[in-house]
Parts: sequence; structure tokens; C-alpha cells
Amino acid sequence: MTGKSDWKLIWVTGASQGMGRALCLSLARDGYTVAATARNEESLGALAEESVSMNGAIHPFPADLTLGGENQRVIAEIQQQLGSIDLAVLNAGTHRPTPATDFRADDVKELIDLNLMAAVHAIEALLPGMMDRNSGHIAAVASVAGYRGLPTAAGYGASKAALIHLCEALTLDLGETGLKIQVINPGFVKTPLTDRNPFPMPFLVSAETAADAIIKGLGKNHFEIKFPWLFTSILKTLRLLPYWVYFPWVKRFTQSEK
Ligand SMILES: NC(=O)c1ccc[n+]([C@@H]2O[C@H](COP(=O)([O-])OP(=O)(O)OC[C@H]3O[C@@H](n4cnc5c(N)ncnc54)[C@H](OP(=O)(O)O)[C@@H]3O)[C@@H](O)[C@H]2O)c1
Repeated sequence: MTGKSDWKLIWVTGASQGMGRALCLSLARDGYTVAATARNEESLGALAEESVSMNGAIHPFPADLTLGGENQRVIAEIQQQLGSIDLAVLNAGTHRPTPATDFRADDVKELIDLNLMAAVHAIEALLPGMMDRNSGHIAAVASVAGYRGLPTAAGYGASKAALIHLCEALTLDLGETGLKIQVINPGFVKTPLTDRNPFPMPFLVSAETAADAIIKGLGKNHFEIKFPWLFTSILKTLRLLPYWVYFPWVKRFTQSEK
């Protein structure tokens, strides 16, 4: 199974801001070569510039990963220019509320297209090469919101629950190979995405703390990387509750948060 010493080339998606950006910088500081993808070319250029003084390097590969064929294209371009991808951190994602009172299929589709299908297309493009080499590591950023249903998060939760499920199945399929699949389930992380949240976020951590936790977890062989420990453990325990306890508890907790 791959470890830190096998990471000659790391691909990070959602690299232009937030957690992905912090992760790229942390990895470059540690001496790794990183291919960074997002739509915003200017931010990716600035990221590459920032890495010039570091031990490693960040190379920008802009793409809109929700467009057909873009995952395939950008992966081929990275591999042609920098060599095979040893570790892919599929982090690009977004959130928008999809409350029952204003429920729109288009909003849910937008979340599924990026949070789930972009990762699916990336995995489809990455797996054959990794299987040929019998080596490779894919980590998908899901969320603790994928553990169980949460208010106003039908679309987001569904996309992340599906991503967790997909990674669970793939890790079982690839069990006897040299490939490693992990899922990353963060709690609240301070990023441009959560800066939009109008409610208090318990156990909020910085993007840099999140990046450190992710790198630490990627170096281990646990399937799930979750942080911060206490918050994610509480949410994990809630998964075990029967619905008649879970629903009133979540309602009471989220109402007192407003
Ligand atoms: N922040 C949290 O509390 C939290 C908690 C749990 C899970 N997560 C998950 O963690 C991941 C990163 O979240 P974040 O908070 O860092 O979000 P963020 O600040 O909004 O960053 C999202 C990244 O995804 C990229 N992206 C968006 N649409 C894209 C597209 N069509 N193609 C390619 N890249 C695209 C964005 O760049 P461009 O706009 O330049 O494309 C940006 O770099 C997401 O999957 C999110 O669901 C976040």
C-alpha cells in the first residue's frame, strides 16, 4: 500500500481556495510536486508563484471538472507533462442549501455534478493506469454531512453520502491490490465556502489545520480521515441512534444554533 515516500506527483482538485489551496501549499512546503486544478486560472497562477520559494512545486492545470471529458483531458495533460499521478486528492466541491420549502432539482444536480460526478469521472480516468502499475492512492473529500440527513442539506448530504458509499465499495474491490482509497470527512473548516454560513459553526478549524490533518491521515492506512476528532466522533455516534431519537435531537440542536 502506498505511503508518503511514494508521492512523487500529487494531484489536488479544488486548489484555488479554501482547503485545497492550504493543502497544496503545505505539500509544496514539505517538498512534494503538486498539480493543482480548479477553474480560476489566476488563483492557480498565484499559487504556483507562491510555491517558487518552497522545497516542492505547484503546477497549475485549470479545468472545470463538471464539463464532460475535462477530468480525462486534464489528467492526461498532467501525466504527459509531469509523469504518473501517485496520489489524487479529489477535493473540488461546493454547497448550497436545498430546503424542502424551496426544493429544486437543478440545485441538487449542480451539487451532484461537482461533489459526486466530478470525482467519479476522475476515478474512472485514474484507475486503469494505477491498476496497471499496481500502485496509486485516491482520497475523496466528502463530509460529515454525508453521515446522516441534516436540515436544508438534502442535496449536499446526498452527494457526500454517495461519495462515501462509492469509496467504501471501491476500497473493498481493490482490497488485494497495491491501490489505496480513502475518504476524508471534515467537520467545519473556515474557507470561502463556510464564510457564507449565517449560523455559528461548532469546532470550526482553519484551512491550515485541516490541511495538516489531511496530510497526516493520507500517510496512514485508515480508510477514513476525519477531523476535528471530537466533533466528528459525536456526529459518528449519532449515526447509531434510532430515527425516533435522532430526528428530535437534530431539530433541537440546529434550532438552538440559529
Ligand atoms: N469547509 C468546510 O467546512 C467543509 C466541510 C466538509 C467538507 N468540505 C468539502 O471540502 C471541499 C473543499 O471545500 P472548501 O470549504 O475548501 O470550499 P471552497 O473554498 O469553496 O473551495 C472549493 C474549491 O473547488 C473548486 N471548484 C468549484 N467548482 C469547480 C469546478 N466546476 N471545477 C473545478 N474546480 C471547482 C473551487 O475553485 P474554482 O471556483 O476556481 O473552480 C475551489 O478551489 C469540498 O468538497 C467541500 O464540500 C468542506
